Amino acid sequence: MASSSGTPFISLLEPTPLAWDKTLPPGSQPNLDAIPRTFVDAMTVRTEVFVREQGIPQENEFDADDARSAHWVLYASVHQTVSPAVADPATGDVVRPRRSETRSVPIGTVRLVPFPHPPHPRPGGVYVDGELVGSADGGGDGQDSQRDPAAAAAAAAAGSGASTTSAGLPSFQPDRRTTYHDGREPYVKIGRLAVLKSFRGRGIAAQLIRTAVDWMRKHPRYFDPSPSKAGFERLGMEEGSASSAGGAGEVGGQPPRWEGLVCCHAQETVVKVYEKCGFKVDEGMGRWMEEGIWHVGMFLRVEVEKDGLDV
Ligand SMILES: CC(C)(COP(=O)(O)OP(=O)(O)OC[C@H]1O[C@@H](n2cnc3c(N)ncnc32)[C@H](O)[C@@H]1OP(=O)(O)O)[C@@H](O)C(=O)NCCC(=O)NCCS
Repeated sequence: MASSSGTPFISLLEPTPLAWDKTLPPGSQPNLDAIPRTFVDAMTVRTEVFVREQGIPQENEFDADDARSAHWVLYASVHQTVSPAVADPATGDVVRPRRSETRSVPIGTVRLVPFPHPPHPRPGGVYVDGELVGSADGGGDGQDSQRDPAAAAAAAAAGSGASTTSAGLPSFQPDRRTTYHDGREPYVKIGRLAVLKSFRGRGIAAQLIRTAVDWMRKHPRYFDPSPSKAGFERLGMEEGSASSAGGAGEVGGQPPRWEGLVCCHAQETVVKVYEKCGFKVDEGMGRWMEEGIWHVGMFLRVEVEKDGLDV
């Protein structure tokens, strides 16, 4: 029996290399001591919600974005019975009292993935572990591509395989235009939002979303890459290309710079959760299926703090 009490707190894990075996649940990780506790806790919540509750395969839960993402975990103080009272069967007298303790347990998590990203999913596409494996009826390709043949062609191409750098990360490539994305502007992606079942309906998801968005707004330069530091190849840009028409984000020969655009790929049933936090459904992005669940794209535009510090 458990009950929650006390003030919840949120822990942030900034991007870090992660020695994670994606085939194993958190408790069975061989390098557990070498993995930041916050990430283990995030995976504990994600495994409970996405793997056990929603039936997503364990090996598809951790992905290549986890190491480059910022993660937040929300903890609650939970009062738990550790061992029940023991009574003498003959007399009924309690010979050992019940033992209980209060512990901080992870109950919710969310992550923020920096740009660049793979192309917007193909409308009606069926994705498994991030790969396009087929198409389903009823996806629709949104209004933009219906009225714009170029966008329709780009929509057909999108999702057929992201271009990646030698480090296996997506590279800066022009994307198709959608209702809220011009196909070029760098955006961050919020996702892997999960709250344990018994703690839902108390505003925890909204608190996590607002915490992540607020952190990004206060640190707008955090993910901006510097070609001189990161190297042109790692950015997926060819040396010298910054002065040409170039790829997405290379506006006016400048390296990509975040200007306040936040995206999420939301399960259709939880669109309202993101709407409560100001996100709007991007009709032009269409809908697609990930791990057997229909998703839609949503965007939020935030005002960037001009003197936001690079942390
Ligand atoms: C989606 C999820 C994270 C919501 O967590 P939560 O802590 O219960 O959400 P909140 O209490 O912060 O709800 C925020 C708002 O959205 C609404 N809401 C929450 N879940 C909802 C749902 N399933 N359908 C419709 N509205 C919902 C709430 O009523 C609340 O609105 P209010 O402020 O007017 O009361 C949680 O249900 C979950 O983990 N689900 C399984 C995993 C999942 O689907 N993740 C999303 C992947 S995109």
